[in-house]
Amino acid sequence: MKHKDLLSISDLSSIDIHLLLADAVELRADGWVDILTGKTLALVFEKPSLRTRMSFELAMRQLGGTCIYLSPAEVGLGKRESAKDIASVLSRYADVLAVRTFAQETLLELARYSDAPVINALSDFEHPCQALADLLTMSDHKETLKDIRLAYIGDGNNVARSLLLAGALMGMDIRLATPTTYTLDEETIELASEYAEDSGGAIMTTADPHLAISDADVVYTDTWVSMGQEEEYPQRLQVFSGFRITPALMAEAAPNAIFMHCLPAHRGEEVAPEVIDGPASVVLDQAENRLYVQKAVLAHMLGGAEVASQR
Ligand code: CP
Repeated sequence: MKHKDLLSISDLSSIDIHLLLADAVELRADGWVDILTGKTLALVFEKPSLRTRMSFELAMRQLGGTCIYLSPAEVGLGKRESAKDIASVLSRYADVLAVRTFAQETLLELARYSDAPVINALSDFEHPCQALADLLTMSDHKETLKDIRLAYIGDGNNVARSLLLAGALMGMDIRLATPTTYTLDEETIELASEYAEDSGGAIMTTADPHLAISDADVVYTDTWVSMGQEEEYPQRLQVFSGFRITPALMAEAAPNAIFMHCLPAHRGEEVAPEVIDGPASVVLDQAENRLYVQKAVLAHMLGGAEVASQR
C-alpha cells in the first residue's frame, strides 16, 4: 500500500485497490486462516457502530490475531488524554489501530504519533473501508467496475466522498445528486475528476436526482442525518425530501440496477421500504463484504505480500 495509514481513499492507488479486492475475494473463500497470529488490533471508537466493530473484530480473529475494543468512555479521546499520548501508548501495545472519530483532524493527529498503522473506521470526512466493501459488492454483481454508471443521491457526506474517490480511481461514470448546499467540497470533486481523467471515468454533479439516476447501473444513498447532526434533523428532512429513492425513481435506473446503502438506514426517509427491502437491494452483501475487505487491509498492513503469500 502507498502509505503507512489508511485515513482516506486517496491513501490508495488504483493498483492498491485492485490488489485489496483480489485478496478480499481470496480471504472470503479461505474463511479462518492463521496469517496474523501474534498480532493485535486496537479498536478506538468515539461513536457507536454495529457493522464496523463487528467486522473488524471478526476479521482479526478469523486471521488468527487478537482484537481489543476501547469504548468512547474508556478512551476519552482529547478529554481524558490527548490524541498524541493515546497514539504513542497504544502503538506500544498494538500492531494496528482502527479508529472511529468525529473529526478527521483527530485521526491525522493519532496517525502522526502512532508507530503502528492507523485505519479510518469512519470520520466526519471519509469512510474508506465502507467504499472498499462497496467496490467489492459492485464487482460481485456487475461484470467489471470500470464503466459502471453510479448514481449517488442524497447527502454529500463522508460516505459519498470515499465512494466518489474510489469509483473515480476505478474508472466509473459517477453522477452525484445532492441539494446544492449539501454537495461535496470543490477539492474532493477536483481530486475525483483528476482520478477519473486518468482512469477513463467521469464525474458529474447535479441537484437533479432524475438526471443522476437515468440509466444508472448502481443507485446509492445514505442517511440524510449523520451522527452528530441530530439537531439539524427537521431542516434536513425538508431539504432532502426530493432525493428519496422511491420505486418510481428507481424505475428510471437501468433495468438490472442494484440499490446500495451503507446502513444504518431510515426507511421512509432517504429510501422507501419497497426499494431497500426489494429484489434490487444488495445492502446486506455490502455489510458482509466489510469483513473481507478489512481482512485484506489488515493482512497488507501487518505483513503485506509475505502474509498474503502464506495462504
Ligand atoms: N456502515 C457502517 O459503518 O455501519 P456502522 O456505523 O454500524 O459501523
